[in-house]
Amino acid sequence: MSRKVTGTASKNEKLNNWVNEAADMCQPEEIYWCDGSKEEYDSMMARMLEAGMAIPLSKRPNSFLFRSAPSDVARVEDRTYISTASQEDAGPTNNWTDPVELKKTMTGLYEGCMKGRTMYVIPFSMGPIGSPISKIGIEITDSPYVVTNMHIMTRVGSRVLEVLGSDGEFIPCLHSIGAPLQEGQEDAAWPCAPIELKYISHFPEENLIWSYGSGYGGNALLGKKCLALRIASAMAKREGWMAEHMLILRLTSPEGKRYHIAAAFPSACGKTNLAMLQPSVEGWKCECIGDDIAWMKVKDDQRLYAINPENGFFGVAPGTSYETNPMAMDTLKENIIFTNCALTDEGDVWWEGMTEEEPAHAIDWKGRDWTPESPDDAAHPNARFTAPASQCPVICEDWENPEGVPIDIFIFGGRRSTVVPLAMEAYSWDHGVFLGATAASETTSANIGAVGNLRRDPFAMKPFCGYHMGDYFQHWLDMGDRLGDKAPRIFYVNWFRKSAEGKFLWPGFSENSRVLKWMCERVEGKAGAKETPIGLLPEEGGLDLEGLDISSEDLKELLEVDLKAWKDEIPDIENYFKQFGNHMPDRLKKQFEELKSRLG
Ligand code: OXD
Ligand code: MN
Repeated sequence: MSRKVTGTASKNEKLNNWVNEAADMCQPEEIYWCDGSKEEYDSMMARMLEAGMAIPLSKRPNSFLFRSAPSDVARVEDRTYISTASQEDAGPTNNWTDPVELKKTMTGLYEGCMKGRTMYVIPFSMGPIGSPISKIGIEITDSPYVVTNMHIMTRVGSRVLEVLGSDGEFIPCLHSIGAPLQEGQEDAAWPCAPIELKYISHFPEENLIWSYGSGYGGNALLGKKCLALRIASAMAKREGWMAEHMLILRLTSPEGKRYHIAAAFPSACGKTNLAMLQPSVEGWKCECIGDDIAWMKVKDDQRLYAINPENGFFGVAPGTSYETNPMAMDTLKENIIFTNCALTDEGDVWWEGMTEEEPAHAIDWKGRDWTPESPDDAAHPNARFTAPASQCPVICEDWENPEGVPIDIFIFGGRRSTVVPLAMEAYSWDHGVFLGATAASETTSANIGAVGNLRRDPFAMKPFCGYHMGDYFQHWLDMGDRLGDKAPRIFYVNWFRKSAEGKFLWPGFSENSRVLKWMCERVEGKAGAKETPIGLLPEEGGLDLEGLDISSEDLKELLEVDLKAWKDEIPDIENYFKQFGNHMPDRLKKQFEELKSRLG
């Protein structure tokens, strides 16, 4: 069947064949090859405006609000698969289905799924186009919302096809919202498939992604979690590099010395805020390189260099304000896609925590009238902004440097209201890997499911590791061996500890710079540390607290090592490690034994 084709197809036969096969299966009305231009973005947005999907915001130039279906508001970890020939290779922390079975099921769903719609072909680069560290992906999608978001989050366009040439390698990413349109049928404002038909599938053995049924975030913008983390982590293991769920920042001391920090926190635990930190400590400067993903390689000087493979921020809106993250607020002034925020009567977006005073009236994320008396939140807790990274006032001049930046410090952490102190340093690389491997955090709205439950989220990669987690731990140990004395130092933080009355003990945000300063001083050998059973903690007076109003009791509690609470964690760690069977590295078992004996 001949189909209308708009735009220029590639010169890559493998790609053209894949696109044609996908079109035969999905049966779209037309095929559109994206060129990544501003005209393309504008005309796509204009069509979504006309269709009533996008709402223009009079207060923010070239910015639009979208409202998703209430069933399609976050990543769906339960419906996310790592599909390898052997279940063992996916490991116990991933959902697994046999690839032949899964492809059969999904082919059935894809059959005719784009009827009445356009199939967009998006050539994109993760990382600067043409950089040796970058990877090319091609996303096929029937969602214009996805196309416009991909324009911001990745580098899209004809230049990518030029670099790909006739025989370059690419990662095929097939996406459909799973909502074919019959002749004469009116489209939904946010078409998608029901939850039980959503599939976010990864085939790491063939570097292939198939996503069906959701139009939201990481389920649909396939360059992000699917490619840059799940597929890339498996590639990185095979090829000897690292793909991590980490922000990257540059901290400059008053003397002008630069430190590059990569930090892994679970989704919706403040990576974007830390990445755009405005230090409260005198004379220190912070610049943002990335807020979610780091790709890292060892270079000839034996150091580990990181790039941010993304081109934008897909940040959690609620809680973002001029108090908590002024640099994000300034990033959001124009050219933004907002999803599931509230709409004010003045034509602006609003979300919980954005302003001290709530609007007297707004339209909530479900399109209903909302007032401060309404029982529900105005914005969904996982409402997002999609923003060009280049608009961030503190974006680092090296954020697109294809060479990357040399990492000095790794930070792991999570959201723990009890047990874990404000900050500590690992005794060694292996101890640091143990801290990363045992990290736990209270769950957030970034995934569909219960919020506030404590779960182990090793290296903040539980939802994003594309292979066996035990092998991933071993990969960290192997990287440490390669880096030797050039390895970054490893720290662990918890900004979220609460008092018995449920009050946050640490003010967080710009004050977190005090903890980062201590880390830099540790690297320089200028700050001491107290040996405790769990790690090296700041000594009394070790943190620069000048000008900070914090009581000595709160500080004591923040830096307290509660031996009983730590001993109580032991059976849980034991149980947790057991699931990795013979993939569990002996060196981490040894770390566990050492922790037990230090705890006594
Ligand atoms: C994200 C997430 O969107 O981790 O970055 O959920
Ligand atoms: Mn993330």
